[in-house]
Amino acid sequence: MAKLIDGRAIAEKVYVDLRREIAELKSKGVTPGLAVILVGHNPASRTYVRSKDKMCRELGLHSVKLELPDSTTQAELLSRVAEFNRDSNIHGILVQSPPPEHIDEAAIVRALDPNKDVDCFHPENVAKLVLDDPSGFVPCTPLGVQRLLLESNIEIRGAHVVVLGRSMIVGKPVALLLMQKNKNGNATVTVVHSRSRDLAQITRSADVIVAAIGRAEFLRADHVREGAVVIDVGINRVEDAARERGYRLVGDVAFEEVSKKAGAITPVPGGVGPMTIAMLMANTVKAARQSMGKPM
Ligand code: GUN
Repeated sequence: MAKLIDGRAIAEKVYVDLRREIAELKSKGVTPGLAVILVGHNPASRTYVRSKDKMCRELGLHSVKLELPDSTTQAELLSRVAEFNRDSNIHGILVQSPPPEHIDEAAIVRALDPNKDVDCFHPENVAKLVLDDPSGFVPCTPLGVQRLLLESNIEIRGAHVVVLGRSMIVGKPVALLLMQKNKNGNATVTVVHSRSRDLAQITRSADVIVAAIGRAEFLRADHVREGAVVIDVGINRVEDAARERGYRLVGDVAFEEVSKKAGAITPVPGGVGPMTIAMLMANTVKAARQSMGKPM
């Protein structure tokens, strides 16, 4: 049976350090502030946005949650972003993805002040990630995955990490982050995706698998080498009439069978999810610190 990697417990460790840092910033007159913008009624997005706002409040951060209707125009959204760019009480801005179809997300992302782009979606921050320049931001979920591995004493350096999925939010940046030339990187990274040939053969050669393909219970036991570490980034809603809310959450990994073969595994929920929020808080604190002219 695999060792369970407890994302909630590791997130708590992150919060211990963050609370100290937040207190220090406040003593200097700066309360880190995060603005989260949600356009539309996507139920999963609403849940995520609420959790982010709640965590800001628990930590004593300044939090602005802006929920806009589906009918919001591109121009209106751009104008809201511009307002937060100008607001000196806001250090981080996050526009929840995906927005409704009529919104040009790439243009919204380019309108963000890169110094407030705590998601690392702006091209300037993406470039810094590619360049191993630590003055930019690192996206929250990849940063959370890296921290889970480090805190669980799983060797990243020289390990073969297979990333399943190539999204801009997780797959691509997690691959870049883990192959970076620094003490928390140096992995040998392979990225596989829905069009990859011989996918199972590749995943079976992995020391660590990061599953972020967005398909419920996609990764099965025969994809995994005995003893491999499996990090499950997926959060999928699967219909379940027996549940009060009518669905249950499952990851991109068939947990039941994979946990019998893996050496360590993250659960869903309670694995990567809490770490993503913790890293968003950490990025907001970093943005506030950098706004005072201090280094990383
Ligand atoms: N939607 C799912 N994950 C994320 C995230 O990390 N940031 C934003 N902005 N939207 C998301």
